[in-house]
Amino acid sequence: MCYGLHFLTSTLIALFMVRRSSSHPLWPADNEFDFKYGWISEDEITIAREQAKQMFYFGYDNYLNHAFPLDELDPIHCTGRGPDYAHPENININDVLGDYSLTLIDTLDALVVFQNKSEFHRAVRLVIDTVSFEKNVTVQVFEATIRVVGSLLSAHMILTNENSYLGDYSMPDYDGELLTMAHDIVLRMLPAFDNTLTGLPYPRVNLVNGVLPGTINETCTAGAGSLILEFGVLSRLLDDSTFEILARKTNARLWNFRDKHTGLLGNVIDVQTGEWKGTLSGLGAGLDSFYEYMLKAYILFGDERDLKMYLDAQDQIWTHMRKGRTQCRSGDGQPPIYVNVDMRDGKVLNTWIDSLQASYAGVQVLDGMLDEAICFHALYYAVWKKYGALPERYNWHLKAPDVSFYPLRPEFIESTYLLYRATKSPFYLHVGREIMDSLNMYSRVRCGFATVHDVIEKSLEDRMESFFLSETSKYLYLLFDDANPVNKNYHRLLFTTEGHIFPISDKFRDAESLSPILELNVSCQPNVIEDKIYPPLTESRFNQIFKMMGYYGDDVNAA
Ligand SMILES: *[C@@H]1O[C@H](CO)[C@@H](O)[C@H](O)[C@H]1NC(C)=O
Ligand SMILES: *[C@@H]1O[C@H](CO)[C@@H](O)[C@H](O)[C@H]1NC(C)=O
Ligand SMILES: *[C@@H]1O[C@H](CO)[C@@H](O)[C@H](O)[C@H]1NC(C)=O
Ligand SMILES: *[C@@H]1O[C@H](CO)[C@@H](O)[C@H](O)[C@H]1NC(C)=O
Repeated sequence: MCYGLHFLTSTLIALFMVRRSSSHPLWPADNEFDFKYGWISEDEITIAREQAKQMFYFGYDNYLNHAFPLDELDPIHCTGRGPDYAHPENININDVLGDYSLTLIDTLDALVVFQNKSEFHRAVRLVIDTVSFEKNVTVQVFEATIRVVGSLLSAHMILTNENSYLGDYSMPDYDGELLTMAHDIVLRMLPAFDNTLTGLPYPRVNLVNGVLPGTINETCTAGAGSLILEFGVLSRLLDDSTFEILARKTNARLWNFRDKHTGLLGNVIDVQTGEWKGTLSGLGAGLDSFYEYMLKAYILFGDERDLKMYLDAQDQIWTHMRKGRTQCRSGDGQPPIYVNVDMRDGKVLNTWIDSLQASYAGVQVLDGMLDEAICFHALYYAVWKKYGALPERYNWHLKAPDVSFYPLRPEFIESTYLLYRATKSPFYLHVGREIMDSLNMYSRVRCGFATVHDVIEKSLEDRMESFFLSETSKYLYLLFDDANPVNKNYHRLLFTTEGHIFPISDKFRDAESLSPILELNVSCQPNVIEDKIYPPLTESRFNQIFKMMGYYGDDVNAA
């Protein structure tokens, strides 16, 4: 397998799409499909960019007008939502909502992506002046880390020019308050790391009372094992290794609980006994960001141990989960697909893929596995075309959703964006437009964008999760804004699993480990350039994937 990194692929592959820019192509479009998906006009891009911006501000302004200082916007009733204090067991809400203006915090660096300096400064001020973590709430360590700590750190580094790639956003009266706040909430979460028999953290912690008696001992692997980016950056900014060490120890312990025979991890583990309570091993819910963060930790910090774990995990994934033909874009046989297996014997456990797993195509892009990423993404594109949304779980054997809600998750859109950066294929811009059209058609309501309750009936729920602004609309906008400083400095920036932007900075890296990342390995390039196909796959290969996933539009042009 080939493990080039994205810095390499994105620059070279960019060559193969240069002709998309100004006028209609002179090259003979052999068929309607190539004609439609292999080209896009500047006007269409401009309109899409404006539309993405409009979607963001529609959600953001409504949040501020109707929901702030509560955590989330209820876009149907135009009101706000905070924790469910009356029902502590309602973890669907309480894991995420901490009574700390979650959506505002999560959205900070998005305002920089939209290059709205005055509003960014106003929002930063609002967070500093109004948000407190002295709250009797029990939140999930993982959610608070990726949504709150990640965003505070990202905004802090932008304000202090530690991340100067986005432009000068310094604020005269800023005195490191966001870093202090990130430090504060992480200190409040530290009791989760104390006193479990395995040393793995409890998944939930109360921000004033620590770990409550009777708390649940079961954590998902991704929840415990994807803290390293935020904890690592916090440690390096504060020059206090405590947090990074905790995250690293947690990862090492999880790693030691791999099955001795298969080398696979399950999705749920008991933090007292170390016993696997969920033996499903896959790329989706429960495991997704664990793999993502091993690779991203290596990119950010340059520690070879993270790379080694990541590569070992990839070997197990390739051996046990990957089915189908060896190459995506060439050869015969079934298209590649990754299946959920039992960690104990590698046997196929079920026939669904989940919506979160769509982010894995983005990990493959970072890894340089572009050929693989193209097919992986196409599976989700098929399901999106079928419903105009992604069901939480889709059963590719029954060709129907197993779990049919769609809370406006960003993962498929994130992968679309990363694949566009890596290939520059106009195909991905078309995908982005189709995504926006269906979001506007099915989920746009009076005061924002609502969770799709059932992708078949298109019924809605009155909830707009914070990631709609911090990720979904951010990635959509970046897809259509080539000139954005984020895109101009793409090779120097890293997105956290919540879409927060961290600089890849020498300050965070061990000097000697810089070289392997920047080394160019041309042999890692997939054969995109030679093929001169403008869409990433031929129409017949797309149709094969669509059929496999149960999307029977007459052909790709049918939509
Ligand atoms: C910045 O955001 C505010 C609040 O949504 C909005 O009123 C203003 O028009 C925005 N400015 C720009 C330049 O987009
Ligand atoms: C925290 O909230 C719980 C109920 O959610 C309540 O029983 C407890 O007394 C509160 N503790 C403090 C210190 O306020
Ligand atoms: C968690 O594990 C501890 C130690 O084994 C046990 O005493 C406690 O009852 C468990 N908690 C729950 C909610 O099962
Ligand atoms: C570059 O690719 C070749 C062939 O796949 C491989 O043998 C070599 O180890 C790679 N070098 C690096 C630095 O990844």
